[in-house]
Amino acid sequence: MAAVTAGRPYHIIVFGASGFTGQFVVEEVARCAAECPGSSSLKWAVAGRSRRRLEEVLKQAAGRLSMPELRTDIEIIVADVSIEESLAIMCQQGVVILNCVGPYRFYGEPVVKACVENGAHYIDICGEPQFLEQMQLEYHSKALARGVYVIGSCGFDSIPADLGILYTQSSSHPLQGSSGHDATWQSAVYGFADSRSLCQLRKKFGHKPLPVVGAKVKKRGFLFFSKELQQYVIPFMGSDPSVVRRTQRFLYEEEQQSPVQYSAYVGVGGLFSVFKLFCGGLLFWFMVKFSLGRRLLTMFPSFFSFGMFSKAGPTMKQIEDTCFSLTFYGEGYSEGRDPSQGRPDARICTQVLGAEPGYVATVSAMVQAAVTLLNELHSLPRRGGVYSPGSAFYKTSLIDRLHSHGIMFSVRNY
Ligand SMILES: NC(=O)c1ccc[n+]([C@@H]2O[C@H](COP(=O)([O-])OP(=O)(O)OC[C@H]3O[C@@H](n4cnc5c(N)ncnc54)[C@H](OP(=O)(O)O)[C@@H]3O)[C@@H](O)[C@H]2O)c1
Repeated sequence: MAAVTAGRPYHIIVFGASGFTGQFVVEEVARCAAECPGSSSLKWAVAGRSRRRLEEVLKQAAGRLSMPELRTDIEIIVADVSIEESLAIMCQQGVVILNCVGPYRFYGEPVVKACVENGAHYIDICGEPQFLEQMQLEYHSKALARGVYVIGSCGFDSIPADLGILYTQSSSHPLQGSSGHDATWQSAVYGFADSRSLCQLRKKFGHKPLPVVGAKVKKRGFLFFSKELQQYVIPFMGSDPSVVRRTQRFLYEEEQQSPVQYSAYVGVGGLFSVFKLFCGGLLFWFMVKFSLGRRLLTMFPSFFSFGMFSKAGPTMKQIEDTCFSLTFYGEGYSEGRDPSQGRPDARICTQVLGAEPGYVATVSAMVQAAVTLLNELHSLPRRGGVYSPGSAFYKTSLIDRLHSHGIMFSVRNY
């Protein structure tokens, strides 16, 4: 594991530990630290803007995990996004900062900047393509120059999709009753409202389109009945396609790998669900365009999301009763076949399964990403920079680590 020093005494600092997600991250880091006690143990601290709330989180975690020592042994660092100096002091003390303070479009950049300037690696669970791509545009060269890794979207958005695609590539040799917390809903509201800026941002990269290898995959419609899933599906609007595209571009440019053609869809059920979603989607689309609409959406998340998001977040029962499943249907060319000649002749299906996605799988993915970074720094690309999870971790054992922490990858022919 990367060494800590007197000047940088913590392997991991959980920033935003008092948030809904932060408290789960605290418990996961505590469990992880307990797995390897002794002199080589993981040293960690919590950070946030309120000492009182952080004390409360440690007290709760101590009770839930039966680890009373958390109340006395874990250091609290007070840092506020709006006070640059406090962020600098926090970043000087940790090898990796796990940033749980969102929505990232409002609070993320000062933390990335402080990490880069103060030599701490940065990991977040952002699901906002605009923030992720903006950070890559602005900080990649600076992070590379400073030997710092900035790795966004290490939660359910978008580790299962990004690594699931890499797993599918390397193998060719609906959420149930869940609910999300208010900050995730706000990220979606403001992300949709500002979708035009994302198009403008992408032009600034000046990327050429990725080459299409083999037969071009036919675009499916906005809504169609999937024979594989036996239900209606629509394109997935989250950050996965953006993250997967960034990884595929990186692997094409840096490793000369053939990029995959990728589309993501989500199952919505039968015709009645489609009708409900269509009405809700239209209302949402209309409301995000106006400031009054956005205010109403963020004031009453539960009402406007049909109970999918709420200010209180999901209950423990909801969390325990939920799981996720991502299925990847891949087509390609068998060994020795020329992709420029004819249709693909090999098909493969991989699956990524795990516990409740928003908090359980997310914190597991985030903490395992941090542990991988600490243990396998030499396997990450170059000597720093801003990366998607797939491009940062493709040469590491992250998939195996996730597998042993409840996020399973499997493969079969179909
Ligand atoms: N990728 C995924 O799958 C996934 C899953 C879950 C969540 N998320 C994302 O994670 C982020 C956090 O979500 P959440 O539900 O945990 O939000 P939350 O409960 O509102 O927590 C936000 C945290 O940020 C802190 N904070 C706010 N302003 C701050 C400031 N100026 N300085 C320092 N700390 C500040 C809050 O501190 P106080 O306690 O002091 O207010 C709190 O600890 C969101 O962006 C969400 O979209 C992603």
